[in-house]
Amino acid sequence: MPSAVDVGIATQASEELLVACHRLIPQLSSSSTPLTASELAEIINSASTVLFVARVETQIVGLLTLALFRIPTAMRAWIEDVVVDAAARGGGVGEALNLAALAEAKRRGAQTVDLTSRPSREAANRLYRRLGFVQRETNVYRYEI
Ligand SMILES: CC(C)(COP(=O)(O)OP(=O)(O)OC[C@H]1O[C@@H](n2cnc3c(N)ncnc32)[C@H](O)[C@@H]1OP(=O)(O)O)[C@@H](O)C(=O)NCCC(=O)NCCS
Repeated sequence: MPSAVDVGIATQASEELLVACHRLIPQLSSSSTPLTASELAEIINSASTVLFVARVETQIVGLLTLALFRIPTAMRAWIEDVVVDAAARGGGVGEALNLAALAEAKRRGAQTVDLTSRPSREAANRLYRRLGFVQRETNVYRYEI
């Protein structure tokens, strides 16, 4: 029987959370530079970003960042940097993080929640579709600075 997942919103850039970021983010992206304590505090203290932290038996096992912003057409939201520790996958942690983010986006008045996921991320794509995300026909562009 899988252990209960507890999802909360980070309110403090604690050493415990920073260490968890350093353990989890490389499992999402091998190229990103390690987050600093002040960058973590910036995410937590910004009105436009919400960092969700999933715990199983008090251990941090997953992270998700929700970005919210008003633009002329609507209040929009994006889900970014979703990662669950390899040892905790397949137990509903990713689902719990996404459901918490969708509830917060709704509470804050967002009309849509967008995300991208490479087709090779099979577990992620399956999870998002199961939760009701619908694939859009659009071109995704990036300008590297
Ligand atoms: C995508 C990810 C966040 C999902 O987290 P998770 O806690 O495993 O999510 P869930 O358990 O809620 O559901 C994941 C799905 O993958 C399956 N799955 C993933 N890993 C599994 C494993 N090790 N064993 C069994 N099933 C697994 C689950 O059964 C579930 O399938 P279903 O939707 O058909 O039921 C996690 O796999 C991850 O961190 N991957 C690497 C980073 C990544 O791809 N992030 C997303 C970027 S867009």
